[in-house]
Amino acid sequence: MAASKKIKTEIAKLRASLDDHSYRYHVLDDPQITDAAYDRLMRELEALEADHPDLVTPQSPTQRVGAKPDGPFDEVRHEVPMLSLSNAFDEEGVADFDRRVRETLEIENVQYAVEPKLDGLALSLLYVDGVLERGATRGDGVTGEDVTLNARTIRSVPLQLRGKDFPSVLEVRGEVFISRAGFAALNEGQRKLDEKLYVNPRNAAAGSLRQIDPAETAKRPLEIFCYATGRVEGGKLPDSHAATLKAFQKWGLRVCPESTTAKGVKGLMKAYASLGDRRDDLPYEIDGIVYKVDSRRRQENLGTISRAPRWALAHKFPAQEESTRIESIEVQVGRTGAITPVARLDPVFVGGVTVSNATLHNRDEIERLDVRVGDTVVIRRAGDVIPEVVSVVKADRKKGARKFKFPAKCPVCKSPVEFPVNEKDEASVVGYCTGGVTCEAQRKEGIKHFASRRAMDIEGLGDKIVEQLVDGEHIKTAADLYILDLETLSGLDRMAEKSARNVLKAIDKSRDTTFGRFLFSLGIRNVGETTAETIASQLGTVEAFKAVTAEVLEAMPDVGPVVAASVLSFVGSKPNVKMIDELVKRGVTWPDVGMLDADVEKTLDGKTFVLTGTLTGMSRDDAKKALVARGAKVTGSVSKKTDFVVVGADPGSKATKAEDLGVAILDQAALEALIES
Ligand code: IVH
Repeated sequence: MAASKKIKTEIAKLRASLDDHSYRYHVLDDPQITDAAYDRLMRELEALEADHPDLVTPQSPTQRVGAKPDGPFDEVRHEVPMLSLSNAFDEEGVADFDRRVRETLEIENVQYAVEPKLDGLALSLLYVDGVLERGATRGDGVTGEDVTLNARTIRSVPLQLRGKDFPSVLEVRGEVFISRAGFAALNEGQRKLDEKLYVNPRNAAAGSLRQIDPAETAKRPLEIFCYATGRVEGGKLPDSHAATLKAFQKWGLRVCPESTTAKGVKGLMKAYASLGDRRDDLPYEIDGIVYKVDSRRRQENLGTISRAPRWALAHKFPAQEESTRIESIEVQVGRTGAITPVARLDPVFVGGVTVSNATLHNRDEIERLDVRVGDTVVIRRAGDVIPEVVSVVKADRKKGARKFKFPAKCPVCKSPVEFPVNEKDEASVVGYCTGGVTCEAQRKEGIKHFASRRAMDIEGLGDKIVEQLVDGEHIKTAADLYILDLETLSGLDRMAEKSARNVLKAIDKSRDTTFGRFLFSLGIRNVGETTAETIASQLGTVEAFKAVTAEVLEAMPDVGPVVAASVLSFVGSKPNVKMIDELVKRGVTWPDVGMLDADVEKTLDGKTFVLTGTLTGMSRDDAKKALVARGAKVTGSVSKKTDFVVVGADPGSKATKAEDLGVAILDQAALEALIES
């Protein structure tokens, strides 16, 4: 049925009305109708659009939640990098900043824009001719992820800018966050479903924005405050930051209502104190205040050093502290045998989360603090780090409170605890269980590490499953994972047959790995990812690894006597060597490291490659290294200048783009042939 003019007008009116009400609500913070009245208008529009699907446009307020895409997020390159901020923690740092600014600009008194440092995550929104074209995360500042579908679900992100005088290309940047109330409601929902609670609003916001299914993101109470620009073409912005924020508001973009301006260090410190006083009453969490030179021309004169602009500063609030009582002190045994004392606390709310454990780090720290069970202590939580005990309130100590004795034996396997001596003859402050693979705690942690994402990446093999497998004596080492059967797995608690099958599949998939990952997965003390890669590329084979000597190790870049000693102690242990042999015998395999050798012929000199999708048995990084070693260039986006696009499993939009441009496409086999030729 062709839509009559009347229906078209009706739809246009409803959309304009919904947009206006949403603008009043989100940007002006001055709603004119109730939520229920808004929902009624929305349902009217939905009904009309359902009868006239040809009239639906992507900018319609009904179109916020799109269909679930079938793959992971594409990469986005930020043409204007997304920078970070330099930090200051006291007045001196602020004064230094202001002095540098004045000296560079050669002026007496500087006007600053001042706004809260929001504790969420940065989002870039690209508007072309006023229409939201792309939403992207910051990533490492240069490459982020395309989260357009998720960004569209955020009610305070306009799908279409208001007015006319915005630049034709306008990239706006802002902070996505969840308010305190939104967070409480979110966790209330989780509690009702008996699901895991979110730790803090920031983590919940970050997780929500990175959901694959936009319908899931739409359920989360995400909000945005816009505070910066990226690409700007075809039009001009006002010449100060404060005026730009006003323009943002006019265009329908939400801006933090606490934004203001101040002059000189005195003015900045006053703003800091005032915001600090109101911090706990704000409806969202902030971790400091940001000062930005207000004039855009002056910002340009000041420029950027490394990854932060010289014209802006984040002045952080002190980490949050709270006092509570220690109920007990326990020790935990980690993957490398490291023994960490942990204080179990009377739960206390600090810095936005409830804390019931705090680390006491090591034996020396316990002595330094002189902390005892039953003591009242001050707990600090800063950012994402593990909460720690800062000090003991000695005045509150009960008579007879006994000192904590650091155990001489591992609490799990009863092997002696030792404090190894380093090359400078200093005893380590960290105590280690000497039980090695005979210690159940070490084995559990070792297997968890082995399965983790950066190691063998066995999806679905979570901590609880590993614990059950070890407790039930179904597996002793990581190598035993590869002989697990469906019956054992599906016999575990809370494990349906379907999940068990998936875990088995993931275990099988992990057999194809790289030598570097394999060495990292072994969980050798002091051997992180980079060191593991170095050792892998220098030794090349398991045989060479098992027979390695101190001389060979110490000749490697960035390997010193401490790392060498850890590696030698690892390969010197019979159970470890047995596990390595079993892993290989049970099918763990990797491409020959020789392929990655740096001194090969430059057979691909001058050729440009783009890699997309997942390769088997070789990471994209390895493929890149192999190509670069042969003289090729590897870039992030496909253009006419690209010679080859290598397409792995589940490729992104780059594969389609290559087809469109007629660029040669290689599959993994063709890539390997090319590398070997
Ligand atoms: S401006 C040129 N303003 O802090 C600097 N950032 O450390 C670009 N942040 O990635 C950012 N509140 O996620 C700016 N009012 C604010 C901010 C803010 C929070 C975050 C943002 C950025 C990080 C930089």
